[in-house]
Amino acid sequence: MAVDLLLGLQWGDEGKGKIVDVLTKDYDIIARFQGGPNAGHTLEFDGIKHVLRTIPSGIFHDKAINVIGNGVVIDPVVFVKELEGLDKFNINYKKKLIISRKAHVILPTHRLLDAVSEASKGKAKIGSTLKGIGPTYMDKTGRNGIRIGDLELENWEEKYRALANKHEAMINFYNVDIQYDLNELENEFFEAVKILKELTFIDSEEYLYQAQQQGKTILAEGAQGSLLDVDFGTYPFVTSSNTTAAGACTGLGVAPNKIGEVFGIFKAYTTRVGSGPFPTELFDEVGDTMAKVGHEFGAVTGRARRCGWLDLVALKYACQVNGVTQLMMMKGDVLSGFKTLKVCTSYKYKGQEINHLPYNIEQENVEPIYTEFKGWSEDLTKMTSKDELPKEMLDYIKFIEDETGVSIKIVSVGPNRKQTITI
Ligand code: GDP
Ligand code: IMO
Ligand code: MG
Repeated sequence: MAVDLLLGLQWGDEGKGKIVDVLTKDYDIIARFQGGPNAGHTLEFDGIKHVLRTIPSGIFHDKAINVIGNGVVIDPVVFVKELEGLDKFNINYKKKLIISRKAHVILPTHRLLDAVSEASKGKAKIGSTLKGIGPTYMDKTGRNGIRIGDLELENWEEKYRALANKHEAMINFYNVDIQYDLNELENEFFEAVKILKELTFIDSEEYLYQAQQQGKTILAEGAQGSLLDVDFGTYPFVTSSNTTAAGACTGLGVAPNKIGEVFGIFKAYTTRVGSGPFPTELFDEVGDTMAKVGHEFGAVTGRARRCGWLDLVALKYACQVNGVTQLMMMKGDVLSGFKTLKVCTSYKYKGQEINHLPYNIEQENVEPIYTEFKGWSEDLTKMTSKDELPKEMLDYIKFIEDETGVSIKIVSVGPNRKQTITI
């Protein structure tokens, strides 16, 4: 069986967690392929609201096996807190959560390095979640990292010490005033590693290959969004992994010709948390209303998310880079009540109108050109079928489909699992 992918097409927080949870009933395996605890994937059902960080969003279902792939970076401390969160719901994670031996481990000093690196950048800071993501991927590509499989070796603590010592020297090099007690952080880390080691570590590429051979259905879950991809995003204001479809191949060991559907998720408007260019950002009461109605606060850091109109130039780019086969539009309910809606359909770039995403999209380089739509006033949150959706919304959907050349298959009208319309 082919492996289906689900990924965010904007700057993250599109609603990936919700949709993976909705789709899990159709899959045997849910596999996270990149990112780490910088992600916050929110699930809501049966009066429960739950935020997952490293654990795949299929964990609340009885049957599905959840795999953390080699492309993911794991902080044992955050991970154990996540497990504790699941204990409250009696989730038997020892049976249905397995971890790739090739996934890399976030050390306490990686988090500290993230902090000093950001502090040293001053105004040019990325706005990182400071979870140690960048430094851990740097150690991975620099061939210095510690992997989950290393934790099974007898001498792994020696390897740890050597790397932590090197990190301490690097932290000092930054010459930034930072207070920390490494002993305390290490005690917490080593305790968490003990608990982490109670879980099953696997050669996940082999596991997923055999699962495919047996005809099992697999959904790969992405974190962050395409515009945060280290290659194709708004560099340097990006994360440190490949968030796009190719990242699922390298992050799970799935061959490119084994990819099936590519589900691309986007919000009916746009948000971004952290620094970096955002051509359609709004600084007026329209943006404030989106933030308020959409509860646009980061699931990980609680930071206010910047809001703006839908950017179709960027969305088309993301569909292209990922080979999206089906779109899913989230948070359409948040747009109810706006008299006029705007969608960016091209940019003014160096005096010319262009339809593709150029190298520079900072405010001084691009000016968004908008197409306007009549808004709708109906409350969508109780609607359950396409027939009930207002005509203006169907026009909005049709326009996006025509521009991207991809059909919208799911329209989400609220955070709950049930507030999902298949069209
Ligand atoms: P993820 O990182 O892509 O999984 O998304 P987050 O969980 O960080 O952010 C999405 C937020 O929007 C969460 O608070 C969800 O509960 C919420 N959400 C998801 N879909 C909808 C929707 O269709 N309407 C509304 N109003 N909220 C939604
Ligand atoms: P999910 O999976 C939104 C952003 C940070 C920052 C930049 C780099 O919930 O969609 P990092 O911690 O990776 O060094 O941060 O990327 N960022 C996210 N924004 N959703 C996320 O994940 C994000 N993960 C990282 O805000 O701008
Ligand atoms: Mg999120």
